[in-house]
Amino acid sequence: MIVEPNGVIGILGGGQLGRMLSLAAARLGLKTHIYTPEDHSPAGQVADAVTIGDYKDADRLKDFGDLVNVVTYEFENVPAETVDILAANHALVAPGGKALSIAQDRLVEKEFVNSLGARTAPFHAVDDLASLEVGLGVIGRPAILKTRRLGYDGKGQTTIGAANGDLSLTWDEANRKAWEEIGARPSILEGFIDFEMEISIIGARGRNGEIRCYDAPRNIHKGGILRQSVVPSGAPDGAVKNAIAITSKILDALDYAGVIGVEFFVEKSGGVIVNEFAPRVHNSGHWTSDACAVSQFEQHIRAVAGWPLGDPRRHSDCIMENLIGDEVERWRDLSREANTCIHLYGKRDASPGRKMGHVTRIRAR
Ligand SMILES: Nc1ncnc2c1ncn2[C@@H]1O[C@H](COP(=O)(O)OP(=O)(O)O)[C@@H](O)[C@H]1O
Ligand SMILES: [Mg+2]
Repeated sequence: MIVEPNGVIGILGGGQLGRMLSLAAARLGLKTHIYTPEDHSPAGQVADAVTIGDYKDADRLKDFGDLVNVVTYEFENVPAETVDILAANHALVAPGGKALSIAQDRLVEKEFVNSLGARTAPFHAVDDLASLEVGLGVIGRPAILKTRRLGYDGKGQTTIGAANGDLSLTWDEANRKAWEEIGARPSILEGFIDFEMEISIIGARGRNGEIRCYDAPRNIHKGGILRQSVVPSGAPDGAVKNAIAITSKILDALDYAGVIGVEFFVEKSGGVIVNEFAPRVHNSGHWTSDACAVSQFEQHIRAVAGWPLGDPRRHSDCIMENLIGDEVERWRDLSREANTCIHLYGKRDASPGRKMGHVTRIRAR
């Protein structure tokens, strides 16, 4: 199946990733149709068509599926039910329900990654205070407690037993506090990794099984939110090679079509540990729009549309910086800088922690 120019790519989710996918599709002469529960979505502003509907509205989803040639998603918390409804109506969904269901649950995701022979942080399933205590006994402190589902940008996680923790609490009290902080939900306890740096691999797999990966960025997070991606990363070549090999294994095991973002911790020894993966285009790949002939967004569209994958080589070094909350006001100053590509997402409300845009500073190699 190949979606030819003037064909329609359906996208579940209306955020900035859908917006940038739509812009990339438009350049290839393809149309996009956004499905989102949200009015005035960032993606809806630049797409050919928008359906505003609930992710569980079977009638709306069926109509949407009938109007598009292929369906993809820009949001990894699309309910499994949505994909099932679309599939039951013969819509082709890429990357597919398996990738989505694994990536939505941190416990299932870690078990899957380990089953492929790759390493993750040590982990323990937590369903109540008793299993949290058992997990801390096995893993030790410090450790991070994360909800299994629906966490993003550092939300739904808390550190237990860090040096800056509240020393006035007993261990039992600290455990209870952490458990309540994450909403007393099914969770996973992870060992704290003392990493040298974080990198990610933005990889793509075509419908014919071909795999292409971008150069790895080094990712700098603050408070769990990505602030900067720096390319080249400065990570040892061996670490990047290993990370690419692991990404390829994940893509093959999921029989994937599209772009994936896999986050890694690089140890002081040069070893790599998988943190998590997102079955979609990824914030740490935004620089590819400005530093590569074919961006991650175009690459994803190519993959799901059955086109040959593009060459992921970059022509520039770069630093991508997110504009979060009222930092978006910096657009005035940034717009005076040379070699600076500004991307604003068209969101009206710059609430704290919200990703409002990003900027890529490029330097020819
Ligand atoms: N086990 C860990 N050890 C050390 N740092 C961690 C660990 N897990 C997460 N972090 C830090 O928190 C950030 C966000 O965590 P992550 O699991 O990627 O959640 P999210 O889904 O919010 O991106 C990571 O990029 C990393 O900086
Ligand atoms: Mg992450």
